[in-house]
Amino acid sequence: MDVPIVDLSNPNEDLVARAVVKASEEWGIFQVVNHGIPPELIRRLKEVGTEFFELPETEKEAVAKPEDSMDVEGYRTKYQKDLEGRNAWVDHLFHRIWPPSRVSYRFWPKLPMDYREVNEDYAKHLKKLSEKIMEWLSEGLGLRREALIEGLGGETVEYLMKINYYPPCHDQDLVIGAPDHTDVNGITFLVANEALGLQAFKDNHGIDVKYTTSGIIVIVGDQFHRMSNGKYMSAKHRATMDKEKTRISWPVFVESSLDHEFAPLRELITGEDNAPKFKPYVYKDFKFRKLKKLPLD
Ligand code: OGA
Ligand code: NI
Repeated sequence: MDVPIVDLSNPNEDLVARAVVKASEEWGIFQVVNHGIPPELIRRLKEVGTEFFELPETEKEAVAKPEDSMDVEGYRTKYQKDLEGRNAWVDHLFHRIWPPSRVSYRFWPKLPMDYREVNEDYAKHLKKLSEKIMEWLSEGLGLRREALIEGLGGETVEYLMKINYYPPCHDQDLVIGAPDHTDVNGITFLVANEALGLQAFKDNHGIDVKYTTSGIIVIVGDQFHRMSNGKYMSAKHRATMDKEKTRISWPVFVESSLDHEFAPLRELITGEDNAPKFKPYVYKDFKFRKLKKLPLD
């Protein structure tokens, strides 16, 4: 059993759209290939991010997350424990890449020099791909193409870049990269370097996700699970560390702005058979309750 792969270059758009919808219903995670983002751009995105993480600690601290910040942006070294008490260790960098009004360049690395240009270029391409996929997913719910993007906040939807940096680790039983979780946002687009380590769960079996160099992993998050009234799965997944190699991944989280309220899409809630399965939430409250493991429904 493997995570589905959808080839977006297939000229039959209906077929492609249906494959994306089916993968989102049954898995909540899939890989897209021939997606229109130039492989060379993805290669450069990984190159500039890797170069940043290889800089001395003092250089990286230049974009550190401020101690008193209530937001996620910035560079950080983080330890946490998962449910089994294993240590989770990952260095990461967060910065928004869209919309321009929400971009703070103070959290974008100044080195390497082309970091900014590459990330801006990636943001533009990824937004197009993301909107296409959101349109297909809206149609898969029997709705207008714009339904999901509007429900997520339309023009105010944010794209948050994260770079995860997992150093090699020999003791796989003691340390894990990212504990089991579902993503809290609408939908996530992830690329990674050659060290494999992303695992998805299907019917409680852990499955290694085998991505190709320029393939993009798409992960449906909690917001789309709830906005689709449960039709689309939010995939449980985790990241393991490699024994010898440094593993780096670049998820981009597409999400509402913090003050936006989201709920099962109103157009879906017609007739008595379609009662909403989830409560509406202001995104920041939803994020907070999930983080604190408070009940959500
Ligand atoms: C995440 C995540 C997986 C990975 O940061 O939410 O799931 O492969 N990362 O690093
Ligand atoms: Ni995740």
